[in-house]
Amino acid sequence: MGFQLSEEFKEKAEHLCAKYPRRDAALIPLLLELQKEKGFVAEEAMDELARFLELPYARVKSVVTFYTMFNREPAGKYHLQVCRNISCHMAGAENLLAHLKKKLDIPEGGTTKDGLFTLSTVECLGACGTAPVMQVNDIYFENLTAEKLDALLEELKHGRLGTADR
Ligand code: FES
Repeated sequence: MGFQLSEEFKEKAEHLCAKYPRRDAALIPLLLELQKEKGFVAEEAMDELARFLELPYARVKSVVTFYTMFNREPAGKYHLQVCRNISCHMAGAENLLAHLKKKLDIPEGGTTKDGLFTLSTVECLGACGTAPVMQVNDIYFENLTAEKLDALLEELKHGRLGTADR
């Protein structure tokens, strides 16, 4: 049997949809909720959500492919998302990205063999004043340097997201 929305998800989704004048307004929060459950949004999940919201599949897929915050494949436990937009670029994001690639021994878009880290680049995270910025799962790390990255990776290896110096 293919992917099915869980009862728990459907219950939450109904609750959320009721807050909006139109069901489709809940699309992004529901996609985020789906991603929270599995770590990514599979094609089948998009299809099921489209049915649930009575939307064309293409509409759901276009939202998932437009926003970099949605993973379409399983990601590592920690999804490192380096901003490469102008302010971060000027503040050295490329060097940080190169540092991470080397240190983790993965290309952009790759996941480490132990499943701990996935490395991506994203467009502006809206924190340009504290560039360079990287988002790890839901948390921002700002004013980054190679040294801060090294310390952060160590914290993450010990399962401590959110305790590292931001
Ligand atoms: Fe990186 Fe805006 S350019 S947060």
